[in-house]
Amino acid sequence: MRRYYVTTFGCQMNAHDSERIKGVLEELGLGEAPAADEADVIVFNTCTIREKPDQRLAAHLGNAAALKRRRPDTVVAVGGCYAEAQRERIFERYPFVDVAFGPGTIRHLAEWLGAGGAGVARHAFGTADERRFSAELPTQRDRLVQAWVQVSMGCNSVCSYCIVPRVRGREVSRRPGDILAEVTALARHGVREVTLLGQNVNSYGRDLAPDIDTGFAELLRAVDRVDGVERIRFTSPHPKDFRPNVIQAMAECAAVCEHAHLPLQSGSTHVLKRMRRTYSRERYLRLVDELRGAIPDLALTTDIIVGFPGETEQDFRATLEVVEEVGFDGAFTFVYSPRSGTEAAEMHDQVPDEVKRDRIERLVELVQQIAAARNQARIGRIEEVLVESPSRTDPTMLRGRTRRNTTVNFAGAAAPGELVPVAITSSTSTTLRGTQEALVAA
Ligand code: SAH
Ligand code: SF4
Ligand code: F3S
Repeated sequence: MRRYYVTTFGCQMNAHDSERIKGVLEELGLGEAPAADEADVIVFNTCTIREKPDQRLAAHLGNAAALKRRRPDTVVAVGGCYAEAQRERIFERYPFVDVAFGPGTIRHLAEWLGAGGAGVARHAFGTADERRFSAELPTQRDRLVQAWVQVSMGCNSVCSYCIVPRVRGREVSRRPGDILAEVTALARHGVREVTLLGQNVNSYGRDLAPDIDTGFAELLRAVDRVDGVERIRFTSPHPKDFRPNVIQAMAECAAVCEHAHLPLQSGSTHVLKRMRRTYSRERYLRLVDELRGAIPDLALTTDIIVGFPGETEQDFRATLEVVEEVGFDGAFTFVYSPRSGTEAAEMHDQVPDEVKRDRIERLVELVQQIAAARNQARIGRIEEVLVESPSRTDPTMLRGRTRRNTTVNFAGAAAPGELVPVAITSSTSTTLRGTQEALVAA
């Protein structure tokens, strides 16, 4: 049997797309190889959000080229956002690549590889107007009790730093009936937690109206009614579209977790304007108040960019202030990376690298300090944990997550998929430790 190996870069949408890529390959009759150098078909599902993933990919592709020199019948396929961004150049730049496809054209992989994945080596690329939901493809999931569910593809925002709209196209929402059918099937197969995925889940459904009148709030309520789904998460909600009806649905649906990943990007209204985020610092803080008012004990995480063109020391301090004021439970922090074809890449006031480096260090330190304090405050509490697997660092321990999405390593006896009470005994800035409650009592 020929075997495949998929290497994934980038965000949760890409990780989910990789499940579909694997599903397609399995359907062609291939099996998964334990490592890339043992595979006959090597697939890279790429990201191009910043320059760094581009560079990492180049290194990986170098290895693949070497493998192919040793075993010329190896098939190399490159998919995802970088492939889409470079569609005119990918075969020129990497002549050993046999097949390329974009995030919306995964199903071409099957046509181009053919039965058994022999590799028809067709240097071709799907076109943007044949974009389809990868959710329509077969799937091969690594995670047992959690699943990603695509609710939309593409993005209609015009954030001036971001390449995603160019590589993933305009937003198209999946029909609610299809989403619910998938969630119902997942729940029947033992999935307890679903994460609804879209570049901006809060604009879900707008393109379906007037035929279908389901917005994100109604979608949350409908998923909440599916039997067996204990936890619902979603990512990402754009702050500009976070309406009161979504907050209310979050508060009222038992399965929707007490966590929101609310990308801030910057705490300076001036920078936010140049980023075309269309909210101000004040509007963001008001939204945080509304969310916390409606959902007690809500965890908040965020994405922040430092060194956006024209960002002054004063703008950066405004970001630090908002980080302090909100008290995020965690944050993904990024150094601004110019992407060719975006508006911000053309701005003349790019921030020098050493200034960016200084700012990211200061930001990371503050974020970690606050996250550590927020986790420390959980010590002594009993948290409901969804058991995922044995702990990565210590196989005698179990690992799971709280509803607030913090990883917990704990002593206990439970199977993946069980919800167990865990007494929290210690913490770091990113994880908690504890002991399963029933064991404490015994
Ligand atoms: N659609 C999601 C996430 C998009 S990409 C959202 O809007 O929230 C994930 C994160 O990468 C963004 O939130 C942003 O913080 C960061 N990012 C995007 N483009 C970037 C760039 N050019 N340089 C640095 N960080 C960037
Ligand atoms: Fe990019 Fe903005 Fe769309 Fe997010 S909302 S994917 S940051 S353009
Ligand atoms: Fe995701 Fe990277 Fe594409 S962050 S949407 S895989 S550019």
